[in-house]
This record gives sequence, C-alpha cells and structure tokens, in this order.
Amino acid sequence: MIKKESKYQRIYSQLEELLQKEGDVLSKQATIAAVLYHKIDYFFWCGFYILRNDDLLVSAYQGPLACQKLEKGKGVCWSAVKQGKTLIVKNVEAFPDHIACDSRSKSEIVVPLRNSENDIIGVLDVDSDKLNSFDMIDAKYLEKIVQLIFY
Ligand code: SME
Repeated sequence: MIKKESKYQRIYSQLEELLQKEGDVLSKQATIAAVLYHKIDYFFWCGFYILRNDDLLVSAYQGPLACQKLEKGKGVCWSAVKQGKTLIVKNVEAFPDHIACDSRSKSEIVVPLRNSENDIIGVLDVDSDKLNSFDMIDAKYLEKIVQLIFY
C-alpha cells in the first residue's frame, strides 16, 4: 500500500477512537480539523463551512484567517453543495467564481458533509498552497472521515 494511503488509515483510526468519546457535532469538527491540519503537511487550511439559513458560514477550522460567509452560489464550496459530491480543484485560479479567502491557496478539495438523514448540512474544505495537491486518495479518506461526525 502506498505511503499516503497508510497515513490516512492511521489518521482515520485515531479519529474514529477520538470521536467515539464526544457526541457534539462542533467538537467533532474541531477535532477533525486539528488532526488533519497537524498531520498532513500539504494541508494549508482545513475546516468546515456549515449551511445556516441558506448561507455557508465558517465553523471549526485550522490555518490562516478564512472568510466567515461564502457568497451564495459562488465558489468551490457552494458547487460541492449544489452538485452533492466531492470536488477536486487542481488550480483554484482556473475555477470560475472561486472565492479566495487567502491568495496563497492554490488547490482545493471540498467534501459534502451529510447528517444521519443524508441531507447535506455543510462541507469539509481543504486548501493547499501548492498546485494539484489532491487526488482520489484524499477524496476517499476525507469522505470516510466526515462520516464519523454523524455515524
Ligand atoms: N475557496 C473556497 C472558499 C473557502 S476558503 O478556501 C477557506 C470556495 O471557493 O468556496
């Protein structure tokens, strides 16, 4: 198994154990953001945006200061919500309407966060300061990790 995948497996096991101990959704988001940000070196920003009254508002995160609210219908996070699937953006500058909270972000992955009724309630967003940092391995494990919040 390649190194990246085994690293994600260790992180997944750690998070699985940590999140069993706490039932609160925000505490779980904070724990996931902290573990991912500090364990994966290409994660420049890592956190959650949550839907509230038709807005996407920032929630628990690690990294540089981020936008508190994402303009409706614009950018990668809203696209992932609308399409209901994970989006990998190799070069954020090439993404129409990309919202640049920090100009150092160069590539991005956004994973929808679903509650136990399977409704999308927000996203996990990860930025890298390098181009083309994310692939299907990131998608596979980040999708598994966000499921730990409600299951
Ligand atoms: N780039 C995101 C906005 C959030 S920041 O990356 C933290 C977007 O286009 O939705």
